[in-house]
Amino acid sequence: MSELSLRREKLFASIPENSVVLLFSGISKIVSEDEYYPFVANRNFFYLTGIEQENSTLMLIKTPGEHKSYLFLDEYNELKERWTGKRLTFEKASQISDLDNIYSNNTFEEMLSMALAKENNMYGQISNLFIDLSNEIKIKENCSTQIFAKEMEEKYPHLKIENIYSHIVELRLVKSDLEVRQLEEAINATSTGINDLLLNLKAGVVEHELSDRFEYYGKTHGRRKLSFGTIVATGKDATILHHPIAQQEGVIKDGDLVLFDLGYQYNGYCADISRTFPVNGTFTDFQRKVYETVLNCNKAVIDYVKPGLTIPELQEYAISFFKKECKRLDLIKDEEEISKLYIHNVSHFLGLDTHDVGDRKRPLVPGNVITVEPGLYFVNEGVGVRIEDDVLVTETGSRCLSRGIKKEISDIEKMLKHR
Ligand code: GLY
Ligand code: MN
Ligand code: MN
Repeated sequence: MSELSLRREKLFASIPENSVVLLFSGISKIVSEDEYYPFVANRNFFYLTGIEQENSTLMLIKTPGEHKSYLFLDEYNELKERWTGKRLTFEKASQISDLDNIYSNNTFEEMLSMALAKENNMYGQISNLFIDLSNEIKIKENCSTQIFAKEMEEKYPHLKIENIYSHIVELRLVKSDLEVRQLEEAINATSTGINDLLLNLKAGVVEHELSDRFEYYGKTHGRRKLSFGTIVATGKDATILHHPIAQQEGVIKDGDLVLFDLGYQYNGYCADISRTFPVNGTFTDFQRKVYETVLNCNKAVIDYVKPGLTIPELQEYAISFFKKECKRLDLIKDEEEISKLYIHNVSHFLGLDTHDVGDRKRPLVPGNVITVEPGLYFVNEGVGVRIEDDVLVTETGSRCLSRGIKKEISDIEKMLKHR
């Protein structure tokens, strides 16, 4: 069975008999007039179909002894293609999704009422309708999944309407071997992008020139999409956690650190890596002290990760590590001062979303993928250090998927010397 069919079977197993599930890819969001934002299919829909096209719907029908799956797409329209480019053929969509029943959107309403009607129902008596209600998903310009659910409630009062979101989150939280390999592809690609940045890291360069370069490098090496807006931040800018591209006007100076927080996607799976480098190739004593503390925390948390722990427990561990170490190294006088230097979380789930779905308070299980990203930020000194790795939770502990991206001081100084 293919990976996508297996995911759909797992979803079938999580719902009662006599149920219909509807999942929508969504529509393109309008910027203004006839300008659209780049389309990104709803991630739950993508997870179950592999399809990245707007106006697409997955319908699953579970009856006693039978699981039926249908995919509805826009029909081929020659004139529309002349305007907006090629669309998926039904054959191609079938290949991608491993679904056999591909239908035109023109037949959707009829097929839906055949499935949901109380009388003359071709699937027996459907009593549950599952829709993704947690995220606002637009089905049409004036219709979200929530509005659609209300319409269904009025039209089919015998149906129990339920939210399918948590069922899919449950599946997405535990990565398959294929998903881990796709994340590794994304991470390895990100690693080559970082190496390219290092060749171009020098005093005088403006921050955004490097984030632009990372994007360009990705586009020219397999049309890689970014996981999120690339963060390149130097000096004091590195103390702003998500220093936005529009503000990346800082000129990189000799003697400063530069913080990269970036990632490419691979088939939708997002790498999320942070590394911090000295522009001139050598850390000052203060920078070294801060860097080593963050690096040791990063390594200690990765070693600590194991099934049964929660993300808030990893955070507590990172905070107590920083409190002790920063006090010992005279970076703070009082342990409580750490809340000024370390102001974010150490981990989040990672997957099809950079900040992936899942309840942070749930104990970790094998197959979860999280980031480990401690940082220390000294605003007055203009020093910000974050070291972020992507980590798989295993049966016995953790495996760092980004261990190939160098972070030891000796390796960094060596790499920068030979650039
Ligand atoms: N790049 C966003 C984060 O690290 O969470
Ligand atoms: Mn990051
Ligand atoms: Mn992160």
